[in-house]
Amino acid sequence: MTTRPEMYPLGRRIRRSHSHGNLQWQESAVTKLQRSAIKSQKACCIWFTGLSGAGKTTLANLLDEALFAAGAHAFVLDGDRCRNGICGDLDFSPEGRMENVRRIAEVASLMVDAGLIVIVSLISPLVAQRQKARELFEPGEFLEVYLDTPLDVCEKRDAKGLYKKARQGLIPNFTGISSAYEPPANPELTLDGSGAPHELVNQILRLVHQRSEEEFACETSII
Ligand SMILES: Nc1ncnc2c1ncn2[C@@H]1O[C@H](COP(=O)(O)OP(=O)(O)OP(=O)(O)O)[C@@H](O)[C@H]1O
Ligand SMILES: [Mg+2]
Repeated sequence: MTTRPEMYPLGRRIRRSHSHGNLQWQESAVTKLQRSAIKSQKACCIWFTGLSGAGKTTLANLLDEALFAAGAHAFVLDGDRCRNGICGDLDFSPEGRMENVRRIAEVASLMVDAGLIVIVSLISPLVAQRQKARELFEPGEFLEVYLDTPLDVCEKRDAKGLYKKARQGLIPNFTGISSAYEPPANPELTLDGSGAPHELVNQILRLVHQRSEEEFACETSII
């Protein structure tokens, strides 16, 4: 199959055109634009990052519902869910967490190629992890949403009881307690996740709508 370099801007073309050993990158005859156009949407990846308990899963699911109600085709890739499946073989060591983020980013990138709006909810604590994820997407496609929820709020929520265990020293490498969280320097959006969930989702919807260049009818509010 011949490659069609005009389908991707430069950065993406360079990455995707690399061959490894006997492997060749296989281009699709139907473009991402065509796939998203039949859904009247613009494919993108909305990437939630923040501490455990910051509200990533909660907001990802609310956003998914709101987008669905507006007629969009979105899908949530949640860290916990992926840990049970595609990343079920990984541990929480620095290497395991790096690979966890890499795999989910690759899946998200494929789903964006399929024309979908992908919502990733994943602690993804390190700048380098999120930067590598961003590089899989075309400019403007990767929307990093930093849930800047104060640690004490997350710890009070402690929905999974993990902070309590981490404070007791029962969980090694727990982000925010015994393992670093590096806040993004330039996220597309920063939200204080202690605010009202519906208001936070409306701010994200506004961002998605802005980026969609009027192609996607997302003028909706979930209040
Ligand atoms: N904006 C909010 N206001 C009040 N409570 C919230 C808010 N967002 C989330 N919560 C509650 O906080 C708890 C943790 O939220 P959630 O599970 O979404 O966090 P998370 O960032 O996905 O954490 P983890 O990384 O551990 O999966 C839940 O009990 C949820 O109901
Ligand atoms: Mg979660």
